[in-house]
Amino acid sequence: MDFDVLAKVYGGMEALCAGRLMQRVRTAHLAACPDHGRVLLAGEGHGRTLAALRKLKPGLELTYLDASPAMQQAARHHLARQGLEETGITFHTGNALTFLPEETRYEVIITPFFLDCFTEAELRVLIPRLAALAMPGARWLIADFQLPAGGWKRRRARLIHAMLHAFFRKAGGISARSWTDPSPILSGLGWRLEDRCQFSLELLRSDRWVC
Ligand SMILES: C[S@@+](CC[C@H](N)C(=O)[O-])C[C@H]1O[C@@H](n2cnc3c(N)ncnc32)[C@H](O)[C@@H]1O
Repeated sequence: MDFDVLAKVYGGMEALCAGRLMQRVRTAHLAACPDHGRVLLAGEGHGRTLAALRKLKPGLELTYLDASPAMQQAARHHLARQGLEETGITFHTGNALTFLPEETRYEVIITPFFLDCFTEAELRVLIPRLAALAMPGARWLIADFQLPAGGWKRRRARLIHAMLHAFFRKAGGISARSWTDPSPILSGLGWRLEDRCQFSLELLRSDRWVC
């Protein structure tokens, strides 16, 4: 998985293609985080959720995990540009499929535009691994693409997904060829959907799950 080549242009590409939309999806449920406690941000990339959460809830201990060192660099630059300090943030570079921060349990897990990088088989490994790091009663915030139930909105979303998956397979090395809904896997592990906000004609969604 190599997002290193994309790291420098990822934020600019996003702003050009989607304006503030993706950030609205990422931040829709951040206010539901507690004021204190531990939060794991997995696949956090260029640090947009990290910085927003730092500003909103400065008392939280944040753990950043991403496979790409260049993305981590971009996240740290973004924090600095926003005038935010790294105190209280632990940075890890690692593949979430094989590496996870040990011995810690989190009040909140956040996966912003991360789960849609994976095939169903990978999600069946990744989601239980992340879920095992959650404290009882933890929240899981998921910002992601989705497929609407039917009609032209679904056809539009399919087209956009196909373009994005083709691009990120080539440039980022992701393995997914299509979107897998993570909801059945989460439900199967005992998580319950508390709230869902949908955006851009149901192309995107921000979920809040509880265990
Ligand atoms: C589509 S980008 C999303 C970036 C950011 N979270 C956002 O909100 O836009 C996916 C991110 O997941 C990271 N990633 C992909 N596969 C990973 C893995 N197996 N373990 C950890 N990070 C991974 C990539 O390096 C990249 O930063």
